[in-house]
Formats: sequence, structure tokens, C-alpha cells
Amino acid sequence: MTGGLEGKRILLGVTGGIAAYKSVYLLRLLRNEGAAVKVVMTEAAREFVTPLTFETLSENKVHTRLFGAEGEPGDESPVEHVDLAKWPDLVIVAPTTANTIAKCAGGAADDLLSTVISAYEGPVVLAPAMNDAMWRNKATQDNLRQLGARGFRVVPPESGDLACGYEAEGRMAEPEKIIEHVKTVCSSDFSKLRVLVSVGGTEEDLDPVRVITNRSSGRMGFALAEAARNRGARVTVVMGRVFVRPPIGVRLIETRTSAEMSEALKKEFVESDVLIMAAAVSDYSVASPSAQKIKGDTWTVELTRTEDILESLGKMKGKRFIIGFALETENIKANTEKKLAKKKCDLIVVNNPLEKGAAFEHETNAVTIYNAEGEVLSTGLKSKHEIADIILQTARTEKAFQKILVEAR
Ligand code: CTP
Repeated sequence: MTGGLEGKRILLGVTGGIAAYKSVYLLRLLRNEGAAVKVVMTEAAREFVTPLTFETLSENKVHTRLFGAEGEPGDESPVEHVDLAKWPDLVIVAPTTANTIAKCAGGAADDLLSTVISAYEGPVVLAPAMNDAMWRNKATQDNLRQLGARGFRVVPPESGDLACGYEAEGRMAEPEKIIEHVKTVCSSDFSKLRVLVSVGGTEEDLDPVRVITNRSSGRMGFALAEAARNRGARVTVVMGRVFVRPPIGVRLIETRTSAEMSEALKKEFVESDVLIMAAAVSDYSVASPSAQKIKGDTWTVELTRTEDILESLGKMKGKRFIIGFALETENIKANTEKKLAKKKCDLIVVNNPLEKGAAFEHETNAVTIYNAEGEVLSTGLKSKHEIADIILQTARTEKAFQKILVEAR
């Protein structure tokens, strides 16, 4: 039987927890879905399940050691960890112990699995399993938040019977649930799409050294670019001023002012199927920027409205799918309906900056997504990577998007 992971190369990391027995079934499901799987086990994992079980089911040698004795696993290549890090489309660690979570968060590389993860640049899915107190531990939760902000996907543990003999939160999610997450992360359903994403804030010159800008970090836009890339899209990012590193595997065009961003976007839009307008474009620019550095005690500046780039691109829309953003604090529904029509957007993602932990400068966000019929969903507070997945999944269910998917070459 084959399924949605046909041809995908998955590295399954197994760490030392009683839930390691469930990973045997997870491996079976991954193989049934059509994935090629290589397994890396930590030393502690081998206390729970033998490598032979994973070897038989994966039809691949199980990797266990960073440095192996002659004739033992791990002796084949002095840079086995580098070879292993280059191989997969996706890494899953199931179960993930609190220790492995801490190692990933800290960038430690003291055994084969942690070394492979630190040398690997693609998506990682973690399925934690541990005692409930260890799960609630602040250090573990802080580590998970950090990893979420870096793009690691966490499949949260469930409540149920723990090995400790009572019911609580900490049981590894069921393999079927983990597979669902894996499918969203590494599906290639956007492989025919050209996705254009605008990211970050713009700068408007006051004089040769000073600018007007905003606090956009670029995190949300980059998370969207990364999520689209993970689904196989060819992604172009037109970026303004950002405070975080762009994802790998996307084409980057750097711009500074709203006028530069507009020019780049108009050029790229023609060759795109989907536009995600996540940039925080300045609404105003300086009427007459000074050619010399301004001195003196007071300074009055006249601002004029900038071009609404999204509205301009909306006029060139054709069959393209457009996702706009908005920042609203009141009359959200009415304002959003007006914007959807005026800017010819298929979806508008509304940030509410009054919600704690949402919008600018945070690693988390909380958004409500609207289409022409009204509110589609509210996400609640989540990492920007999770929100990016939800936004793309919501777009995927829209009729106009499906039409583009069918027609895209
Ligand atoms: N946008 C744009 N060009 C601008 C301003 C905004 O393309 N000059 C885009 C943004 O990238 C975003 C959307 O338009 O996708 C935001 O629309 P906007 O009308 O600025 O809404 P808000 O920021 O929500 O606020 P307001 O309605 O108060 O202006």
C-alpha cells in the first residue's frame, strides 16, 4: 500500500522512552505511506527496543553510534553524521525525551542523533513523551518554545496512562496523529505553484541618515515562505527591513523603501500564482526628504500617503490567489470585508495587536482569517510557524486556490 509520502526520505530518530515501542508502528505507517526511512537510535532507545526490529521494518541499517568500533555500526564513514544529515527530506524524533529536547534547543551534538540534527537544515517534527512533571517543567517548555520559533514542529503529547502508573499529560501522540503532522510538513501539493511573499518593514527616508520605519520583524512572512517551500512551492521573497534570518531554499529580493518594494513586487507578481502580502508597508512617506542631514532643535515633517501596493497588485490580479494582512483593533468584520473587496484579496489574515503575545516582535501570533463569506477561523495563540501552516491549509481549501492548483504548470 502506498500513500501521501511517496518517495519522501525520512530519518526517524528514536530516543529512550517507553513509547519507543510505538515508533515501531510509526515506522510501519511511514513505509505504508511510501516513504523511505532510515533510523537513528540513541543508546537509551536501545534499552527499550532492539535495532533489529527497526532494521527489519525499515529495510535499512540502523544507525546508533557517532564513532563505531571496527565492524560495528557507525564505523562505515568518519562523517556518517554529515551524510545522514544530507539525506532526509524530513527528520522525525519519536519519542523525544526531555533530554533530547534540551539538546536540540541548546545545539548540543554529543551523540549521533543530536549531531545529525545540528548538521541538518530541513524540517524536524518532534513527538515528545515523558512524565507529566517533566513535561510541565519550565525548562522543557521554554526549550520547546525556542524550538517552535526556529521552525521545529511539535506534536504535543496526549493525556492518558503513563508508564508511571497514573493518567496524565505526557504520553506520546498516537502514530496516526504524528503521520498527519508529517504529511502537512512534507506534502508536495504546492509543487507546481510559484508563491510570492512580501516580508518585513519598509524604510522611508527623512534625510540621508534617518528613516521612518516600523517594528515588523519578518518572522511571520518568513514562516509563510518556509511553509510554502516545505510544500514544494517555488518561493520568491521580496523583503524589506527584517530582524531575523531568512529561510534557506527561497529566492530573496532585498528592497528598502515602499517604492522599491512596490517595483519588485509588480515585476515578480506577473510570474506568480499566489501572493502573500505579509510585509508591513509604511502607509506614509516623507513629502520632501532632505538631501542634507537635518540639524536644529525642532523639525516638522510632512508625510504623504504611500501607494497601497496590495491594492495596485489587486488590479493586476487575473487568476492569481491573493492573501492580504490587516491589523485591526475594532470593527474587525466590517473593516475586513471592505478591504477584501477593495484590495481584491481571496483571504485576509487579521492580526489583533491587543492580544498578548500576538503580532509584531513576538515569536507567537493569534490571527483570524476571513474570506468573502466572512470569518473562516481564529487560530488562538500559536507559534508563527504553526500559524503559517494554518494559513496555507486554509488557502488550500478555497475553491479559487484549488482551481490554480489544477491549472498550474
Ligand atoms: N499594504 C500595502 N501597501 C501599503 C500599506 C499596506 O500593500 N502602503 C498591504 C499590507 O502588506 C497588508 C495590507 O495591505 O497586506 C494591510 O492593509 P492596510 O490597509 O494597511 O491595513 P491595516 O494595516 O490593517 O490598517 P489601516 O486599515 O488602518 O490602514
